[in-house]
Amino acid sequence: KIIILDFGSQYTQLIARRIRESKVYSEIHPHHYDLNKIIEERPKGIILSGGPMSVYDEDAPVVDKKIFELGIPILGICYGMQLIARYNGGNVEPASNREYGKAEINIIGDDNLLKDVENNSVVWMSHGDYITELPNDYKIIARTENSPICAISNPAKKIYGLQFHPEVVHSKDGKKIIDNFLFDLCGCKPDWTPGNFIENTIDEVKKLVGDKKAICALSGGVDSSVAAVLLHKALGKNLINIHVDTGLMRKNESNDVVKMFKENFDIELVHVDASELFLERLQGVTDPEKKRKIIGNTFIEVFEKEAKKFEDAEFLVQGTLYPDVIESVSVKGKSVTIKTHHNVGGLPERMNLKLIEPFRELFKDEVREIGLKLGIPEIFIKRHPFPGPGLAVRVLGEITKERLDILREADDIFIKALHEDGIYDNIWQAFAVLLPVQSVGVMGDARTYENVLALRAVTSTDGMTADWYRFDHRFLEKVSNRIIRSVKGINRVVYDISSKPPSTIEWE
Ligand code: XMP
Repeated sequence: KIIILDFGSQYTQLIARRIRESKVYSEIHPHHYDLNKIIEERPKGIILSGGPMSVYDEDAPVVDKKIFELGIPILGICYGMQLIARYNGGNVEPASNREYGKAEINIIGDDNLLKDVENNSVVWMSHGDYITELPNDYKIIARTENSPICAISNPAKKIYGLQFHPEVVHSKDGKKIIDNFLFDLCGCKPDWTPGNFIENTIDEVKKLVGDKKAICALSGGVDSSVAAVLLHKALGKNLINIHVDTGLMRKNESNDVVKMFKENFDIELVHVDASELFLERLQGVTDPEKKRKIIGNTFIEVFEKEAKKFEDAEFLVQGTLYPDVIESVSVKGKSVTIKTHHNVGGLPERMNLKLIEPFRELFKDEVREIGLKLGIPEIFIKRHPFPGPGLAVRVLGEITKERLDILREADDIFIKALHEDGIYDNIWQAFAVLLPVQSVGVMGDARTYENVLALRAVTSTDGMTADWYRFDHRFLEKVSNRIIRSVKGINRVVYDISSKPPSTIEWE
């Protein structure tokens, strides 16, 4: 395995992801991880991440100097490389200009780390300090216009440093550099797969939980469903899955979730129908943030009441993904600050439960792969992401049961048509939005005055940015006709052609 020591970079998780893509196992640890443990664990290589500080700051995160004497190959990235310089007799100074963005590297001489990397290949820079004096026994292997010492190596010790970020996709040959480190320099083998992830997680969870009980907050979305199936394998009946039906789910979704678990895995969910309570609380509320708050609080209340019935439970399982968690290791190495936009935030502390988040280092596509491997049906796994507050943020304005039902019918027609035409998987998220606007229409000989429905479909890789999907106009025509013909209450359908930014994916 590879050990990544984290110095607080926003890109540390990307390093882990690139390594996983090469089918090598890695673990991220804080920079102050005990050196003896590293020695015991015998990693094939160590990566020192980037970080926001300067190596000369008073409380700059450090690493045990003996790490450079272990005989284990080391790759220092940005801050990591500056540490190598600092501890091995080099010199680091603040640059007069911060270097940020793309640069071209000029490769000087041959080297294993940069093998097969094109000269003048584009790399991604983000730093304020740079090396002004080479450490002892090191040589320069690449430079850029602004960084004369951009990549360094000590081949005898197999210690390497890069000023740029190979883990960022903008570094064109970055993946190649990481692979060179993994395979040529550390001698790793590409044998880490979703199957290994499953086995390891099961082992770890068994060790952690023992014969105690854990509760899973199962929304029925992809992430929590995969987490539930995976942990069920580890804990069996000691995992209690609580599914709260908020009444804000898509058509049939709550029942489909319960059925999927029963039929495929013989797992019985604790199915709580709280739809009336949610509707009651949301009555008359139109402000999107108020809706979110009410839904979050009501969810916690219902969930807590149900979970308390299982007095002896000590753990709470959540399907949190890495992008849900913006995490940074505090540079003083004591605490970890976490920012989450999760719907059950605060729940574990309130209920005094210990949190288990098996996917907090993974991205959505990786969780989908694990879900498939666990035998969850593809159609279930490939479902588009769905927001926690559900259809409440897609019925604009006041939420009523009637309006939710209108939206559910229209949304179902839209989604079914996407499957019918085989384009569902090309789209990141597609859904219908019921607008608080009425328009005039004519049906038969009668004048109508009914709701306007908007269709939204976007492509994206992570939901952070998105582009509207270019449908064939015949597809839009088909969906519009079907909806207006069969959904009572809608007499006009429009298509949303805004991208994010400046718009958002959801309308509220
Ligand atoms: P926006 O609308 O901000 O959405 O472009 C980005 C992604 O986040 C989802 N989303 C939410 N997910 N709780 C959630 O769990 C929320 O309150 C929430 N609001 C938006 C949205 O569906 C998209 O995938």
